[in-house]
Amino acid sequence: MKRHCKIAPSILSADFTRLGEEVKAVEAAGADMIHFDVMDGHFVPNISIGIPVLESLRKVTRLPLDVHLMIEHPERFIEAFAKAGADLISVHVEACSDIEATLRLIRRCGVRASAAVNPETDARRALQVADQLDMILVMSVHPGFGGQAFIPESLDKLRLVRNELDQRGLHHVDLEVDGGIKVDNVAAAAAAGANILVSGSGIFAAQSYAEVIAQMRQRLAAVELLTN
Ligand code: DX5
Ligand code: ZN
Repeated sequence: MKRHCKIAPSILSADFTRLGEEVKAVEAAGADMIHFDVMDGHFVPNISIGIPVLESLRKVTRLPLDVHLMIEHPERFIEAFAKAGADLISVHVEACSDIEATLRLIRRCGVRASAAVNPETDARRALQVADQLDMILVMSVHPGFGGQAFIPESLDKLRLVRNELDQRGLHHVDLEVDGGIKVDNVAAAAAAGANILVSGSGIFAAQSYAEVIAQMRQRLAAVELLTN
């Protein structure tokens, strides 16, 4: 199965005083999509950005907007995020009372649907609804903050999810890994089955976004050769 890996900078680590410029800068540096973290202070112990910010960023980039909802009852806000320009919406299985209904709602809004699982959550909860998914998001840190260390057990989870997707012929379902991704571990995450690599501090803390993205691509290219 030919696998092309994508790099999704998480703007949680960008300079918020110049967010539009930061998004344009990672686009020019070769990013494939923009990862947009929404936190409500309930599902995670932090608050970040929301609908008006997404709407503003939609105007400054052509890249797909990958919206990661770390919020309770995400069904209440799907339509608003869709209208604001989301191309893909991830909801956490832990936060949904009816995950299937929420995924249907996302798709009805014309947006690609994804289920996210926290580090302590059994990935089978996302795999159970894999038929209705465009992507599964495996959290490789406890959600809520950028700049945390990658949890090594996440590699086993990625392998488990990728194997099951392959076995079921669900090759179109993307597998995203989010948290603690840096140049050093992109290859391990991709070899374990991830094809969308989110990186916040790994990219925005770098002097040159183009350089760090190129380094990531170089590491990923080696894995892509092996998996193709
Ligand atoms: C964590 C967020 C991540 C975060 C990743 O709650 O979901 O997207 O921004 O940041 P890094 O790459 O710094 O771990
Ligand atoms: Zn995220």
